[in-house]
Amino acid sequence: MSKTESVATGTANDFGYRTYELGEFAFSRDEFFAHIAWPTGSHVMSIDDFLRAIQRDVAWDFFYGIVNFDAVLGTVNHYGTVDLFAGRFNEAYRSAELDHLENFETPQIRETFKAMLDDWTNSAFDPFASPVETGTPFGAKEGSNTDAVTRRRVAASRMVGVPGDEELRSDTTGHPVNRMFADVPQDEPDIEPEPAFEDRVCAFNLFKYLSRSQVTWNPSVVSVCKDSLYCPTTEEYILPIIHGNDRVEWFVQLSDQIEWTVEDRDTGKLRARVVMKPGDVAAMPSDIRHQGYSPKRSMLLVWENASPELPDLIASGKAPTNPVDF
Ligand SMILES: [Fe+2]
Repeated sequence: MSKTESVATGTANDFGYRTYELGEFAFSRDEFFAHIAWPTGSHVMSIDDFLRAIQRDVAWDFFYGIVNFDAVLGTVNHYGTVDLFAGRFNEAYRSAELDHLENFETPQIRETFKAMLDDWTNSAFDPFASPVETGTPFGAKEGSNTDAVTRRRVAASRMVGVPGDEELRSDTTGHPVNRMFADVPQDEPDIEPEPAFEDRVCAFNLFKYLSRSQVTWNPSVVSVCKDSLYCPTTEEYILPIIHGNDRVEWFVQLSDQIEWTVEDRDTGKLRARVVMKPGDVAAMPSDIRHQGYSPKRSMLLVWENASPELPDLIASGKAPTNPVDF
């Protein structure tokens, strides 16, 4: 193992891929699978699932709460440090005492994950793309796709389209209308501000904006009001992670349909199945984990409360796990 910028990596294996170590975790890939080992066990994942999951964890900087790659492997964001775990939120692993968890400074796990994602992604594969819009992740190492795996996540400081903030999407910015959204109107709103307010009123067509998204399952921040973030996204196929909430998330289904599997966050026991159709609104509680299935490219508005106080308020019982009682 050699260490560069705190990334512990080995020489390339027979398939051309490097091995990685993070604490007592060891990672390797072959033509089809990612292999993960820790002192009390080991795990295997299909490489397409693994790359799609680690891509989100890297791009979202470990997101809110828990990013489960599957029912065994994942990360917990403590906003400064990150837990990497195996079996921690799996009742069978827990009761057999085979689970394993290590805490890392965020830069160490971030740099290791970034290096592994870049090394293990071949030139044909884009982990953010719908499976029908990208090539194969399988086989021996063949080139890289660094531009795709280092995409900058859109994060408006006020709102998309405001002068100096994130720009609107168009053909000329390299964002053509997606094949699934050919019927989405492409006009922009008429703005008629009162005199002296000309540079203070902004508006944009969110449906047009989303129809030009190149990626799937990637909530990006389009508007900000203090801790209130609108994070819309386009979805197709399966959410590549199982997100364990540490706060309530509101979902507004803007188009088409997503079917959600909702499980207990800590044990994985099935709690609900939610089918969301256009116009449906759901509040995902802070003690669940969820994974979505979108049979056709759909538009979803995820509304996040980014207050850093929320996880402690909820964990200590001072704030409820659900936002509404009926
Ligand atoms: Fe979530």
